[in-house]
Amino acid sequence: MIRRIAVWMVQGIGFLMMGVILAACGELYGGKGQEPVPELVLTYAENQAEDYPTTKGAYKFAELVKERTSGRIEILVHAGGELGDEQAVVEQLQYGGIDFVRASLSSLSEFVPELNVLQMPYLYKNSEHMWKILEGEIGDEFMEILDGSGLTGLSWYDAGARNFYWTNKPVQRLEDIKGRKIRVQESEMMAAMVEALGGTAIPMTYDKVYSALETGEIDGAENNWPSYESVRHYEVAPYYTVDEHTRVPEMQLMSQYTWEKLSPEDQEIILECAKESALYERKLWTQRSEASQRRVRSAGCVVVELSDEEKARFQAAMMPVYQRFCADYMDVIERIVEAGEENRGLR
Ligand code: GCU
Repeated sequence: MIRRIAVWMVQGIGFLMMGVILAACGELYGGKGQEPVPELVLTYAENQAEDYPTTKGAYKFAELVKERTSGRIEILVHAGGELGDEQAVVEQLQYGGIDFVRASLSSLSEFVPELNVLQMPYLYKNSEHMWKILEGEIGDEFMEILDGSGLTGLSWYDAGARNFYWTNKPVQRLEDIKGRKIRVQESEMMAAMVEALGGTAIPMTYDKVYSALETGEIDGAENNWPSYESVRHYEVAPYYTVDEHTRVPEMQLMSQYTWEKLSPEDQEIILECAKESALYERKLWTQRSEASQRRVRSAGCVVVELSDEEKARFQAAMMPVYQRFCADYMDVIERIVEAGEENRGLR
């Protein structure tokens, strides 16, 4: 009997210890198989749809960070503008309410006006020219300009070139723009560009554009091929005028507040993963741009390519915009233009 009691006791202690060990594992692994519980969960705001190149870039970034920190850092991506419009999420980034944002330079320029230089109209000859600048000294200088703004720049994302589109009549000449109400991003420079072309600029957030086109509140808008297609603006504004007025780079940003809480090793991992995700996004961008063009053309959109002479007239109208937004940066503009001359012939 005494032996039976002793065996029960030993078994009992054994179960108890197993329970303690399992509970400890549960704490560490969250009770979900081998999934470790992250030490840090960070939020990432993206205003494009789940299948859009920049969103896929965000998921790639989150995946790489998780992998390289062995699950210590988890990044939760909120796509489709779930956390607010671009300017609202950048404001939250400044005080650490959100940890990462992918944003268009047009929105960012309202916080750091020097960034306008990199998105001036008709500045880059082509995509290679823009990438030569962003990946070179000038790109690094502009990343550093963010210091002290509450924002930490991580990498450059591609967003192609922007073109105009219209609800009821194509634009073939500069004069055709006169008096048309055109949606612009909430950016003073973009508004000035449209006014210099003779249009009336209506600043508005991205999510409001479809219905504004549909109801006639505006006559047109402007964006790159993938956005035009992804948010279905082509359904309500089927006339697309290719003038490639701007190439607006996009940035992957981190809240400086969150950045400073990380160890130098983790900062290094974040930077490296952001850069890798940007290369991935660029590849997806090229594919999506072509697919979007095909999709909207086959949906019956009328695409007008401006002649070189006409494009030169659009470009000439930009002089006051350069004077207003780049007067203190004409040396940088010259360096950018010169780099493009060396690139002549590339497409
Ligand atoms: C692009 C860009 C978005 C931006 C939008 C806009 O689609 O990727 O970040 O919000 O332009 O026109 O507002």
